[in-house]
Amino acid sequence: MKTLIIYATRYGTTGTCAQLLSDALEGEVVLQNLAENPTIDLAGFETVVVGSPVYAGRINKRVKRFCSNHESTLLAKRLGLFTCDMEEGDGSIKQLDHCYAPPLVAHALVKNSFGGQFLFSQMGWFTKKMIKMMSKSDEDVKRIQYDAIKEFADVLNS
Ligand SMILES: Cc1cc2nc3c(=O)[nH]c(=O)nc-3n(C[C@H](O)[C@H](O)[C@H](O)COP(=O)(O)O)c2cc1C
Repeated sequence: MKTLIIYATRYGTTGTCAQLLSDALEGEVVLQNLAENPTIDLAGFETVVVGSPVYAGRINKRVKRFCSNHESTLLAKRLGLFTCDMEEGDGSIKQLDHCYAPPLVAHALVKNSFGGQFLFSQMGWFTKKMIKMMSKSDEDVKRIQYDAIKEFADVLNS
């Protein structure tokens, strides 16, 4: 079984999660960062996983475009959808459901948030200032949901 994980990332967390998912999946897995390689070839992949960080309530533009340009092909694949974000509890799933197109959400074999991170060393000064004010802390926040990644992989491996 061959799996393609398509993703985008701004500060690296979604890439880290995509790699963790890849490590937990059985069979051949190809990781594709859309910013590094925008060429799409979905042929030969039985399973496609799409992952994106959420900024201001939206997924990455490249991921959105990929999903819309390839929707009919994705609807014929085993599909997984994930987000990286800092929402907590049910809010993160509601956000995911709102971010991806309804037909893809309905078709997905598995979907979940893998949590997220605020890594201050990676941010520009304005973003750093804004997030520090919002989170009332200048410590990095690391909330990757390792269990969610494992459970997601278990569904795709079954
Ligand atoms: C400017 C900014 C806006 C954000 N907006 C949201 C948001 O609307 N919802 C959310 O759940 N998380 C939000 N986040 C948190 C990011 O989704 C989180 O940091 C994620 O891990 C980033 O992933 P990346 O490193 O792959 O880009 C925001 C973070 C920043 C810095």
